[in-house]
Amino acid sequence: MADVLVVDDEPSIREFLEVLLSKYGHQTRTAGSLREAREALEVKAPELVVTDFRLGRESGLDVLKAARALPLPPEVIVVTAFGTPASAVEAMRQGAYDYVTKPFDNDELMLLVERAVEKRSLRAENRQLRSSALGASVFMGSSPAMQQVWSIVQKVAPTRATVLVTGESGTGKEVVARAIHLLSPRAGHPFVPVNCGAIAEGVLESELFGHVKGAFTGATSDRQGLLVSAGEGTVMLDEVGELPLGTQVKLLRVLQERQVKPVGSSREVPFEARIVAATNRNLEAEVKAGRFREDLLFRLNVISLEVPPLRQRREDVPRLAEFFLERIARELGRPRLRLSSESLEALQRFSFPGNVRQMQNVIERAATLSDTDELGLASLPPLVQGTATPMEAEPDLSLPVGFSLERHLDTIERRYLHEALRRSGGSKMKAAEQLGLSFRSFRYRLAKHGLPPDDA
Ligand SMILES: Nc1ncnc2c1ncn2[C@@H]1O[C@H](COP(=O)(O)OP(=O)(O)OP(=O)(O)O)[C@@H](O)[C@H]1O
Ligand SMILES: [Mg+2]
Repeated sequence: MADVLVVDDEPSIREFLEVLLSKYGHQTRTAGSLREAREALEVKAPELVVTDFRLGRESGLDVLKAARALPLPPEVIVVTAFGTPASAVEAMRQGAYDYVTKPFDNDELMLLVERAVEKRSLRAENRQLRSSALGASVFMGSSPAMQQVWSIVQKVAPTRATVLVTGESGTGKEVVARAIHLLSPRAGHPFVPVNCGAIAEGVLESELFGHVKGAFTGATSDRQGLLVSAGEGTVMLDEVGELPLGTQVKLLRVLQERQVKPVGSSREVPFEARIVAATNRNLEAEVKAGRFREDLLFRLNVISLEVPPLRQRREDVPRLAEFFLERIARELGRPRLRLSSESLEALQRFSFPGNVRQMQNVIERAATLSDTDELGLASLPPLVQGTATPMEAEPDLSLPVGFSLERHLDTIERRYLHEALRRSGGSKMKAAEQLGLSFRSFRYRLAKHGLPPDDA
């Protein structure tokens, strides 16, 4: 149900639209002139305005203008007379959501109304962060789980507390870390993500802490580490669970003393940056398994924030799909792109093991490849249509500096082992089955990764 303002100088049309809109459950107010419309907008901003293009001697474009000037502008649908395409073009140019031509079809109008209202509520949800420079790049989500995440983000952002962001791959941990940065007084300073898993141990320490000339072969001059060069910004230690134990010890000391010792130097350099760490591993389990230092976990985990997987907030799927579709449609200059109802249903059914990232890829791929405005089931990957196995999923093939295929595959394997164990509640039999492995082969892989027999 939305709050709709109907503007028309013809009383019979006002009445007709009022009845029609109420029949669909909308709360309707009416105005018969530009002045009345302005007053109504001022009393309370509606979510949608339906205005005639011609209001006697006045113009519906002025209603449009007044509506667009509100802090959170309503969507505006303009009703134009038959045979006046120029007025429709002008209305669209000035930011109308869409137009209908008189005499209009009731169903056509109501379809537009529903779409406009939905678009507007999507915008309202995003407004809080948008107004704070986070931009249109984030979808807040209306699921209780995500609402809670954003409310914690807003509370911790202004503080200096170290935050640990956890969650499966692709859930939006980096999005959350950036939000913490952008909503903090540090927003004007750099946000520096460092992928601790993708960089070789020696290189990582010099990246983070810096080095002095001659510290190692190739160190031809002094170099400031990221913790220092980030200034008063935020450093995101991404994939912190992948840090080698040796680096963990050093990092702990650095965080305790808020000083770094560049590689090869004996001099400590203070730093100001805030630390946000992220991981898709269960660090408590890593501590138990002896792969992560408990004291470092305590240091990082002053405030912890878990980003829930998409399958646990399915109510966000339709809006999120629309959010990504709208964005790619704008990029492609194809504003009429939309998902067919079958596609939407398939998306809602799909479990999205790759979470939001996967969903974004699916939508962008469909939009880019589709020749038609309606994205039908066939535009979705077979996996999402429900007709293929996970092996056909497309992996991320970027090759960052210091990349090692062996280490990468090991990491993937370890994550699958963890995930399967997590889903099976620790039952190795079930975990093996989910991975399509024999029990023997599963046990062998656990041992290879040093996972203890009772590690779940
Ligand atoms: N709430 C959101 N609104 C808009 N886009 C999102 C949201 N959450 C995630 N995304 C998008 O999904 C992709 C993955 O997000 P992000 O990189 O933050 O995930 P991650 O949890 O850090 O994943 P990984 O563990 O693989 O590093 C990004 O392209 C991001 O823009
Ligand atoms: Mg990430």
